[in-house]
Amino acid sequence: MKENISINLKNAGSFVSQEEILALAQQSVRHLDTLNAGTGAGNDFTGWLSLHEDVINQIDRIEKAAKHLRSVSDTTVVIGIGGSYLGAKSVIEALSHSFTLLQKSKHHDILFAGQNICEDYISELLEILDERNYSVIVISKSGTTTEPAIAFRIIKDHLEKKVGKVQAADRIIAITDSRKGALKSLADINGYDTFVIPDNIGGRYSVLTPVGLLPIAVAGHDIRNLVKGAKAMSDATRKNHDAASNPALVYAAARNLLLQTGRPVEILVGFTPRLHYFSEWWKQLYGESEGKDGKGIFPASVDFTTDLHSLGQYIQEGQRILFETIISVKNPRKKLTIPAEKEDADQLNYLAGKRLSEVNHNAETGTIIAHNDGNVPVIRIEIPELDEFYCGQLIYFFELACAVSGYILDVNPFDQPGVEAYKKNMFALLNKPGFEEEGTKLRERLNKR
Ligand code: PA5
Repeated sequence: MKENISINLKNAGSFVSQEEILALAQQSVRHLDTLNAGTGAGNDFTGWLSLHEDVINQIDRIEKAAKHLRSVSDTTVVIGIGGSYLGAKSVIEALSHSFTLLQKSKHHDILFAGQNICEDYISELLEILDERNYSVIVISKSGTTTEPAIAFRIIKDHLEKKVGKVQAADRIIAITDSRKGALKSLADINGYDTFVIPDNIGGRYSVLTPVGLLPIAVAGHDIRNLVKGAKAMSDATRKNHDAASNPALVYAAARNLLLQTGRPVEILVGFTPRLHYFSEWWKQLYGESEGKDGKGIFPASVDFTTDLHSLGQYIQEGQRILFETIISVKNPRKKLTIPAEKEDADQLNYLAGKRLSEVNHNAETGTIIAHNDGNVPVIRIEIPELDEFYCGQLIYFFELACAVSGYILDVNPFDQPGVEAYKKNMFALLNKPGFEEEGTKLRERLNKR
């Protein structure tokens, strides 16, 4: 059996004591109970807790659909934003070859759209798609989100012109609500294959549903192992009342106690670029779940050692409002040693024969000591390697810890009322039917400036 990810608090210990952390973690068992009983704020959206049974039963169907897209095309465009985008993107980036789009060997490319409204981005994507034999997965729980809806309209039009309406319909899969929304109507009218996002799972908790699993499977990764990892983490945490052996409770408690020491900013740190989008997923998960009612820890992220040469200065000596959570990956997938050189003109022979991972681990240890000295506490999440199994573990771990942490903060970790504000203004400025009055008021405000 594979070991689980673990949490190391050694480098947070001089800022909050292990005893305090364990005490709050033990008190937070009640939040686990509330989640499991479905009696807390937002309890309509806790379907992800039990790795939705319907979803798990659909794995065969998801794999079959992925195989179909891989057989009829060489590229899939995944259209979605927020929780309908970041989960798939983060796992695909964590698991794929770092230069996958440049690899000559036969594989299936995944491109993303609908996560912005940038005219240049979509135009340039269409230039690429002119040359590609492609399929589309369009994802929107509400089925009405503007960014993916616009991207889908444009790309659907491009695909239909390229391969005809019938062929296009065979290459488009929609993932949306079971009953409502414009995307559901479009899928029904055009006869697209569809997968359902369960009612009781919100966008940012949906990566282990078809929302994440289908794109990840199309990219060629093993979704069974991903789910297996999540299940192992669920078994270790969801009903584990012994706080000391429950990393989700310990993490939720530690970050809240660090907040109470005057550190409202948490930086998620990876020492591999493979984790870049994992941090983006994490930022959405924690930002949307906790940032409300004037509360919450601001989630930021860095890629080290790259960002030690940009944000490193601030972290070391800027405002003392930060703590870090490092995702520390023990073993890389590849092996590379530094060669010896006779002349040693670059004076690097002291590293000759060492693996890059050894240098990287020393950079990590050196950084932790420096940041501790600079008054920055560090939590370490330790994982043996970045494969499907451990991605699944990390996802479940962070989701459960986020829900518990939201309850510690006394907010509803499953809604996102603040996301609506910009949409209302955008619709009003664009004269969307039904927003005429707001449009007039906004234009008056703008004219007064
Ligand atoms: O977490 C969330 O609920 C949001 O970030 C949504 O995922 C995002 O707004 C996209 O929504 P939808 O899937 O309805 O298009």
